Amino acid sequence: MTSANQEPAKVVFNGISKSFGRKGESLRVLEDINLEVQDGEFICLLGPSGCGKSTLLNIVAGFEESDAGSVTIDGEIVAGPNPQRVFVFQEYGIFPWASVWDNVALGLRHLSEQERAKIVEATISMVGLSGFEAAYPMELSGGMKQRVEVARALAVSPDVIYMDEPFGALDSLTRLGMRAEIVRIWQQEKKTILFVTHDVDESIQLADRIVVLTERPGRIADIVEVGLEHPRDLGSGEYGAIKNRLYDLLGVAHTI
Ligand SMILES: Nc1ncnc2c1ncn2[C@@H]1O[C@H](COP(=O)(O)OP(=O)(O)O)[C@@H](O)[C@H]1O
Ligand SMILES: [Mg+2]
Repeated sequence: MTSANQEPAKVVFNGISKSFGRKGESLRVLEDINLEVQDGEFICLLGPSGCGKSTLLNIVAGFEESDAGSVTIDGEIVAGPNPQRVFVFQEYGIFPWASVWDNVALGLRHLSEQERAKIVEATISMVGLSGFEAAYPMELSGGMKQRVEVARALAVSPDVIYMDEPFGALDSLTRLGMRAEIVRIWQQEKKTILFVTHDVDESIQLADRIVVLTERPGRIADIVEVGLEHPRDLGSGEYGAIKNRLYDLLGVAHTI
């Protein structure tokens, strides 16, 4: 990924390693992670449960410190969280005591009322929740709550979005719908997205490139370029070939 006319990478992971101490013992979680993410790229970090995906995302987002190595974004070392870069959590990230409108408006208190209203309205419309502005989370389905969570993140106009298994709490049909939504929004907004998942299909449906991590300690097993246009045909031969490749990398049998 180093051609002469290429833009400098947006996010660079330089030799990230991390261990957690436990009663005198040390648990090695991440080992020498090196990766360059281009501006506007959709990257999935795929790996088995417990391999260090969330730890890695927390390090990139500045919530957690690495033991070795560093992350740079736009050439600057990440030393802590930055309000221009947001985390999308599972549906419990939103405030139950606030309406849809207020949940989305929370990060915009520094703006004038008029500017805030414009952004909140546009973002709620973008995630397909127009008409539900006054509703409270308890009145919404899981998928709708997750749309509020996505709107809350988008409203602050972030340049990088971190998503840690954001659709994990949704039923499988809602999850499929949310994947299509997030691809549509990503195509429209051109944000850089780092998306953690342990779901092989999810990674192929979403990513430009899939970074496959090994079991703990997480190392990069390989980076798989998806190279399929959206919307992606889940029944195509290319899709199946990528899926088999990912299963091989993860050391999982293709057939059951
Ligand atoms: N704060 C912590 N203290 C001690 N161990 C941790 C901590 N956070 C994560 N771990 C351990 O690190 C390993 C990787 O965790 P995590 O990054 O959450 O994996 P994943 O998201 O891939 O499932 C797990 O074994 C987990 O128990
Ligand atoms: Mg995790």
